[in-house]
Amino acid sequence: LFELDEDSQSMCVLNGSVDLDHDGYTGSGFINVDNELGASVVWHINVTQAGVYELDTRFANGGTVARSGLLSVNEKGEQLVTLEPTSSWSVWSNEGIKVALEAGENIITFKSNSAEGLANIDKLII
Ligand code: GCU
Ligand code: CA
Repeated sequence: LFELDEDSQSMCVLNGSVDLDHDGYTGSGFINVDNELGASVVWHINVTQAGVYELDTRFANGGTVARSGLLSVNEKGEQLVTLEPTSSWSVWSNEGIKVALEAGENIITFKSNSAEGLANIDKLII
């Protein structure tokens, strides 16, 4: 339905940067949040129909341990999302969860719950 890329006008990055130094990303870069507790990314998205949607996060984790974060929609329904190591920062994988979206604008917040920060994030796919 949607692909929310790092260059989507609807996205806002907090505590990080858009980087280009690892291959395999789509669009014009990937999100690298700072390696700290609470580092987050926020997307604003619109859907015409309320409902439960499959939300895939395309990520790379070149570290040796999983990076996890809490994902919420409109400050509700917080879910733990675990992004396992992908063997390299240029190997990308998808992690899917289900989210309830409202008709109209939704605010998706993905926030690190450990000192390592999140994995690098290429995009969300809905
Ligand atoms: C490396 C890598 C970054 C990554 C970071 C991390 O510095 O180049 O893209 O974000 O590790 O550990 O989070
Ligand atoms: Ca990082």
